[in-house]
Amino acid sequence: MAYINENFIKIPATYLFSEIAKRVTQHKSENPSAEIIRMGIGDVTLPLPHASIDAIKNAAEEQRQAETFRGYGPEQGYDFLRNMIVENDFKARGLTIEADEIFVSDGAKSDTGNIGDIFGLQNRVAITDPSYPVYVDTNAMAGRAGQPSASGQWTNLIYLPCNEANNFIPELPTEKADIIYLCYPNNPTGTTLTKEQLTKWVNYATENEAIILFDAAYEAYITEENVPHSIYEIDGADKVAIEFHSFSKTAGFTGTRCGYTVVPKSVTAFSENGEKISLNKLWLRRQTTKFNGTSYVVQRAAEATYSPEGKKQVRALIDYYMDNARIIREALHAIGLKVYGGVNAPYIWTKTPDGVSSWEYFDYLLKDKNIVCTPGAGFGPAGEGYVRFSAFGNKEQTIKAMERLK
Ligand code: MLT
Repeated sequence: MAYINENFIKIPATYLFSEIAKRVTQHKSENPSAEIIRMGIGDVTLPLPHASIDAIKNAAEEQRQAETFRGYGPEQGYDFLRNMIVENDFKARGLTIEADEIFVSDGAKSDTGNIGDIFGLQNRVAITDPSYPVYVDTNAMAGRAGQPSASGQWTNLIYLPCNEANNFIPELPTEKADIIYLCYPNNPTGTTLTKEQLTKWVNYATENEAIILFDAAYEAYITEENVPHSIYEIDGADKVAIEFHSFSKTAGFTGTRCGYTVVPKSVTAFSENGEKISLNKLWLRRQTTKFNGTSYVVQRAAEATYSPEGKKQVRALIDYYMDNARIIREALHAIGLKVYGGVNAPYIWTKTPDGVSSWEYFDYLLKDKNIVCTPGAGFGPAGEGYVRFSAFGNKEQTIKAMERLK
């Protein structure tokens, strides 16, 4: 007889964005002529940078010829891409990260979900609330989250509420946390931490021998000074932090799939007998066993985003979405809603009017306005009473959606 992993019974039956997609499909089937504007999942709408398309074509041609054909590549990524990442994302900011500390992957979602493989189940995990659902769900699947409770919280997770009262800046935990997920610029609230605020977390991790899992998927959207693009800008972070990056939101790779994770060799955690073990080695072992590398063609496409023309094209994509963010922010503000984010992030976090619940407001927007947003409660209990709008849509549609809200 085969037994299932019981933890899967405890988690919600569907992933947040699958549930939203299900409701949208049903609404569309009941209202076939409805012109639905999607501002829910953070999926990009502009095509890939031309530099990446050219690189894909060239790489495909290479795959046509026996002399240039490539089979299995290095599981952790080709040097041509790892070196580009080191030069542009770290060295250019004065940060020392080595190529063998970069692990290229099929995206930050997989890596933030899979990273739990290298950590013991006894770790106490702290997460900001609200947060990207992958952090909670994957810890629940692994059996590290305890039991779900009526409040919507898991008994074994440490929740770090981010709300209006603390201006969406999480307080240090009062219970001892071993692993801390931080995502900045934040998904879903679009808020940020300054260097000083992030320094507190790095100091906490250092003092408590904890590890920070820092999701930097949205760093390219930072517009303000004093907001760190990488946690390694903070002294000591290279001993306590793993960082996740994505080409999805930066360069439109949501369907093409590429990201990378930084695991400095100086980051360690403990074995049960008290030995300090390098997490770089463990992640390398995990990836070489369970992952066969991102495709050669896609890595060439990612490499091209660092070429001079690629950089310009990526900048244009980001500017386009950030203009959408401005349009959304201003429109929601004009109709009297409380609005956060959208300045250093492509997400706008809005308080629902008259205290209606997140899902009620989601349903109202879908059914009455044909607008899809994401209910804040889907990101955790502290997200109740909020919804998130994504700025990744087409501009005309974004303007139209905001007109409908007026
Ligand atoms: C989101 O909408 O929060 C993200 O796009 C989902 C993801 O990146 O997986």
